[in-house]
Amino acid sequence: MTDPAPNLDAALRPKTLSEYVGQVKLKDKLGVYLQAARGRKEALDHTLLFGPPGLGKTTLAYIIAYELGVNIRTTSGPAIEKPGDLAAILTNSLEEGDVLFIDEIHRLGRVAEEHLYPAMEDFKLDIVLGQGPAARTIELPLPRFTLVGATTRPGLITAPMRSRFGIIEHLEYYNAEEIATNLLRDARLLGFGLDEQAALEIGARSRGTMRIAKRLLRRVRDYAEVAGETTIELGRAHSALDKLGLDSAGLDDRDKKYLEALIHRFAGGPVGVDTLATAISEDALTLEDVYEPYLIQLGFIKRTPRGRMATAHAYEHLGLPVGGSDGDLGLFVN
Ligand code: ADE
Repeated sequence: MTDPAPNLDAALRPKTLSEYVGQVKLKDKLGVYLQAARGRKEALDHTLLFGPPGLGKTTLAYIIAYELGVNIRTTSGPAIEKPGDLAAILTNSLEEGDVLFIDEIHRLGRVAEEHLYPAMEDFKLDIVLGQGPAARTIELPLPRFTLVGATTRPGLITAPMRSRFGIIEHLEYYNAEEIATNLLRDARLLGFGLDEQAALEIGARSRGTMRIAKRLLRRVRDYAEVAGETTIELGRAHSALDKLGLDSAGLDDRDKKYLEALIHRFAGGPVGVDTLATAISEDALTLEDVYEPYLIQLGFIKRTPRGRMATAHAYEHLGLPVGGSDGDLGLFVN
């Protein structure tokens, strides 16, 4: 039997903080915390990483473990339903100083979360044995570990949970140059040619997101290879990305549907997210988590107390006449 195809993303994952592109402020701070923890031969404080999906939170958790010279165990909030699931992870494989990475930690079950508190704070786990009047609780000591939690929805992290993290950091969208730097490195490691201008073009259309950039690079490479080219050049990147339905700002058909509904059907807003979601046959959570963060980042929409509003930038980008003076057109046409 042959080996399964290697997971390229995992293989290309940077090991050290210095290989990790962008997130400069976060890297600076984390570098200090890691060095201090290493110096004291202590586990790093529990760390919460939040930000939109695909920016490299998991990668950063692996880097933290690598930089500390410890093992990492990974799981996710939805995988931990019962306290027993948590107990299994905490007692089975964790050694002193190890990193436990919980992705989507906001989706941890309420009861499991309550069991996690003493584990985080006092490195002990309360286990209930038996049921009814005969039930008794035993306290199980745990190694001092570092919990690295990742979430796209920091607002859903409960206050008691949040307060148990010593390090809370936000990941930001990448600019085109940062993405291009990373893509050029990937291409070098994978052994194919990538022009700098082409890398920048892919970077500009990746919604500021590393994961999307890597996926687009693979698709653009497909087009180049099928055309018999050994190096991806700007022209090829352009045409392939056009074929993938991405415009110059990296917006796809779904983003455009969102903006067009907001502008044409609701006069640029303000409109409530539920109404907007219904209008484009999506659910409100998808709008909030997937579409809107990048549209806000681009300055195309604003979330206001009265609802979503399109800005002048959105009209300009879609080639529509701009009517307002301060960019908040909804105020004028509502
Ligand atoms: N993979 C995911 N995010 C990354 C980053 N910021 N730098 C390098 N590789 C990454």
